[in-house]
Formats: sequence, structure tokens, C-alpha cells
Amino acid sequence: MKLTYYGHGCVLLETMGKKLLLDPFISPNPLTAGKADAEKIEADYILISHGHEDHVADVESIGQRTGAKIISSYEIVMYYGAKGLEGHPMNLGGKFSFDFGTLKYVNAVHSSVLPDGTYGANPGGFVIWNEEGCIYLAGDTALTMDMKLIPMTCPKLTAAVFPIGDNFTMGYEDAVLAADFVECQQIIGTHYDTFGYIKIDHEQAKKSFSDAGKELILLPIGDSINL
Ligand code: NI
Ligand code: MN
Repeated sequence: MKLTYYGHGCVLLETMGKKLLLDPFISPNPLTAGKADAEKIEADYILISHGHEDHVADVESIGQRTGAKIISSYEIVMYYGAKGLEGHPMNLGGKFSFDFGTLKYVNAVHSSVLPDGTYGANPGGFVIWNEEGCIYLAGDTALTMDMKLIPMTCPKLTAAVFPIGDNFTMGYEDAVLAADFVECQQIIGTHYDTFGYIKIDHEQAKKSFSDAGKELILLPIGDSINL
């Protein structure tokens, strides 16, 4: 599994020869300028954790250009379906076998409405596994006891992608506990620094994880890691 960070909550997961793009918010993000280009990113699937603008800004343009299939809540898939994008609707607790492996749509504690006010149903996260590994893309969420269900119902995690910017999601202190809940050592941090409310001290955040015997990876925008 290869993971590329495109800023804010957006990552690209490449696995089993497929490209899965999560929560594209690239063109409006000042931090991505010169490091990522929404007009050049390729995707086979676009995963949408919830309907907020900072997670869906580039869905329509990338979806139209690439023909990528949307995977999200039933309501969000219907919303983009009306705009001509193909999709695979899911709801919380359900899993499905795709051509890249199994994907389980899991609980997130947050809110979800699309930019034009359309109801986005409940927000979610994604656990994806295949012979290359198992990764949890948490989306925007608070620390929640539901995370304890993941190691009970999914294979051992290779890595987890957690929001760590605080204010709108869990902060890095809670993310350390979340890593414990999901029994994962290797965490990739997202959803920090983009706005004033979520600026964090990178060294302090990494220390919180290393003090707990875990690793926090903060990828520069545009950089990739092999998991
Ligand atoms: Ni949000
Ligand atoms: Mn967000």
C-alpha cells in the first residue's frame, strides 16, 4: 500500500493496482500550491467521509475528468449521482468486496452536510484491507469508543490516518488514545495547519506519540510513504 498526502484531509491510497482518493480539498487549499494539482490527480475511486466543503471541494471536477466511482453514504452518492458521477452507496457498519479489497464503512463522530445545504447523512470512516495490508482512514471524527470495535471486526491494522488538528476533530492527544483503541502503532496525521483554528506544534504532536511508544508521521504535502 502506498499513501500520498495532498494536504488537509486528502490522501491517495494506491493498492492492488487501484487509486483511491479520500476527501479531495486541493484546489482551494493555499498550502497545496505548487505541491499538488487537482487537475492532474488520477483516481479509480473517490472516498468521501462526509459532505463538508473542506472534504468535497474537488470531487466533482476530479470525478468528471477521471470517471472515478464515489464511495460514501447513500445520501452523498445520490447527490453526486444527480451530477452524473457513478457511485457505490454504503451505510455505517457495512462492508463490501471491491476489486481493490474489502472496504468497511465505520462510524465517525462529526457532522455532515453538503456545501449547498443538502443532507449528507452521518459521517463515516473507511477500513480497507487486502493481501497488501489493512488501513483505517478515519475521516473527521472525535475520539470515540466505537474505534474499539475495529480491531474486533477487521484484520490487524498496518497504519491509520487520523485527523490531529483539534477544534473540529480530535487533537493529537486524543489521537494517541485512538491509536490505542484501534491497536495501531503507525499513524499518519492529517487535518492540521490548514486554518488558524487547527495549527499544531509538530514536534509536540510527534512527542505525544513517541512517549506512548507509537509513531506519528507528518508527511510534507505531495510526499508518499510505502506502508
Ligand atoms: Ni468536517
Ligand atoms: Mn474537515
